[in-house]
Amino acid sequence: MFVTHRSTEFGLEKEIYPGDGVVTGYGRIDGRLVYVFAQDFTVFGGSLSESHAGKICRIMDLAMQNGAPVIGLNDSGGARIQEGVVSLGGYADIFYRNTRASGVIPQFSAIMGPCAGGAVYSPAITDFILMVENTSYMFVTGPNVVKTVTHEEVSSEDLGGASAHSTKSGVTHFSCANEIECIRYLKRLMSYVPSNCEETAPSRPYETGNELRPALNAIIPENPNQPYDIRDVINLVIDDDGEGFFEVHKNFAENIVVGFARLAGKSIGIVANQPAFLAGVLDIHSSTKAARFVRFCDCFNIPLLVFEDVPGFLPGTDQEWNGIITNGAKLLFAFSEATVPRITVIIRKAYGGAYDVMNSKHIGADMNYAWPTAEIAVMGARGAAEIIFKGEIAKAKDPAAKLKEKEEEYINHFANPYRAAERGFIDEVILPEQTRLKLITSFSMLENKVAKLPKKKHGNIPL
Ligand code: HXC
Repeated sequence: MFVTHRSTEFGLEKEIYPGDGVVTGYGRIDGRLVYVFAQDFTVFGGSLSESHAGKICRIMDLAMQNGAPVIGLNDSGGARIQEGVVSLGGYADIFYRNTRASGVIPQFSAIMGPCAGGAVYSPAITDFILMVENTSYMFVTGPNVVKTVTHEEVSSEDLGGASAHSTKSGVTHFSCANEIECIRYLKRLMSYVPSNCEETAPSRPYETGNELRPALNAIIPENPNQPYDIRDVINLVIDDDGEGFFEVHKNFAENIVVGFARLAGKSIGIVANQPAFLAGVLDIHSSTKAARFVRFCDCFNIPLLVFEDVPGFLPGTDQEWNGIITNGAKLLFAFSEATVPRITVIIRKAYGGAYDVMNSKHIGADMNYAWPTAEIAVMGARGAAEIIFKGEIAKAKDPAAKLKEKEEEYINHFANPYRAAERGFIDEVILPEQTRLKLITSFSMLENKVAKLPKKKHGNIPL
């Protein structure tokens, strides 16, 4: 707390404040050790000096040594401009530690005020970012610089407020109504994760009772093209522990839902297609959102549960030109690489490449269940019939009737889970009401899973 800066330039020698704009230390959340730094905007705008950086690095080193998470409460104008390169060096020292710690200890960044420059890149390397609505901003360059360079006029809120980053960019994982809610979210997040990559997340005591959930039988609409909210399925399957589903990235890429929950007292990560938004299609943002979440869970030994209802990848020039190939591959890579216990429940559609990508057994899932409503095929029936019966349809007296007949033939053959089950790609076709029971018993069966990747320096995920 007595650390001060050593700068003598631009009159800084006359402005000395003990602590130099950052409070650092350690404490406990639910009895578990965490290291915390909190920047003070009233001291040089919370800007980062060499000494300020040294204090943050010190707790990061302690956190690595002692295997505990780091929480940053960020409120900073970035590198302290008067200090020049030593402040840039200070940031680089932090980025380097963030990177070395990635996958070893959980790192959380709460953005609690205006954050610019280096103050956004350190959070970007950490595992989760939380922003406080209306009082926090994140941008590499602020509205003034934007105006000078691009002549664009934009407010701080529109450029980098919680709403912009929780809906448009996906930079923040949580948008919090106020600082109290932000701290509450941080503590809740902590409850789902272990302290480091050698441990498992804390579990809650649980006594098995009646695990059947008949309400699940009534969720899927009769018409397979009608949407429903996948959160209704999630909420009926997970523990009713007073906390329910802790959704991550709630307002970003809503065609996929990701988040934490507990099943029989144990922490799990859930990835689920959302038929209520864009029919649950996979696109660039939903793929990267889910891939990052899968990798976080895998880093920290959190088992993965997937609910699948996906009509395929989103077609179109926008998606192709912006790289759906590379970005969709991220999700494929993330699941294929994950060694934690992994279970999939195919609820309805599992079409095309999306069937492979969504934690199929082919890419290492441990168990795959299907509801009787599952449809597992290369593509939708109409498209399939048009391609494989092209000649026959063209020659028919009534091509439209022929197409309809062939479409129905395809549906009868593939719009069910049994072709996949015959090959063992589906372990069991279960009634919806049995889902929770089956998941509890199979995750328990997988509890001591040991799986290792081939020896390598690191994989090369398609970034
Ligand atoms: C020194 C700073 C400072 C900084 C703010 N202050 N940022 N002092 N270095 N980086 C001081 C201001 O001079 C002011 O001092 C006080 O903090 C409050 O700042 P205001 O501008 O009055 O506050 P506000 O209007 O809320 O605006 C906040 C802000 C803005 C958006 C953060 O201050 C800003 O744009 N700051 C500069 C951001 C920036 O370009 N940083 C360097 C980035 S380079 P007084 O004495 O008047 O109260 C970088 C490199 C890292 O970080 C590498 C990245 C890869």
